[in-house]
Amino acid sequence: MPPIAIISALHEELAAVLERLPDERREHVAGRDFWRGHWHGHDVVAVLSRVGKVAAATTAAVLAERFGVAAMLFTGVAGGLGPGVRVGDVVIASDFVQHDMDASPLFPRHEVPLYGRARFGAGAALSAALADAARRTLAQPARTLGEDAVAEFGLQQPRVHTGLIASGDRFVATSGESAALRQALPDALAVEMEGAAVAQVCHDWGLPFAALRTISDRADDSAHVDFPRFLTRVASRYSTAVLDDFFNNYQNNS
Ligand code: ADE
Repeated sequence: MPPIAIISALHEELAAVLERLPDERREHVAGRDFWRGHWHGHDVVAVLSRVGKVAAATTAAVLAERFGVAAMLFTGVAGGLGPGVRVGDVVIASDFVQHDMDASPLFPRHEVPLYGRARFGAGAALSAALADAARRTLAQPARTLGEDAVAEFGLQQPRVHTGLIASGDRFVATSGESAALRQALPDALAVEMEGAAVAQVCHDWGLPFAALRTISDRADDSAHVDFPRFLTRVASRYSTAVLDDFFNNYQNNS
């Protein structure tokens, strides 16, 4: 059975994933460590993409070509853009756009030249299964995070949203920039730095792709004060708990 890829952009998240793969074996390709193992009986390959669209695209291309993966999952953090998308919520991507793609006047703003489109869709069935797993996990955040973290980060009733994710090669940390993004892409729920690149690679290879992003900040001047702590205490724990539920329930029909 071809493996399912699990991609993380940051070390803390990959470390949490690897703790769940008791039998992982390392393969080094293109300067990256790819970890092959099993999760609830499913063949998986986990990898650190590193940050940004090019690093993510390289990683995804290796997963497609060298590892022959059946599908790709991305877990990570993002800045919230949509109204009501709060720190501690989770966004499951329905589609992706590169917010910094602009070849105008040759092509409309955001359109990826010669693809005839600005948006790349997530795999519907894969994303629905990931969203179900996220809803089950976030229904009882204290079970995953502990009461202390729920209180510390004020995560009483975290929500799961599904919608557009905007990706670009910059960390958005000013109110001016997030306002401009909201104006340019009013339906974008969250901003991060890799998803649209992986979505484009998956489009090229005809592979389903789903992404889960825990909201770590509001992409403005009030960006979360203790990002590393949020990453280890909240986002990484959500990711592994959601993936654990996902693989426990996932039927690979491909
Ligand atoms: N990932 C987490 N927060 C982000 C932000 N504000 N901008 C870009 N990527 C992010």
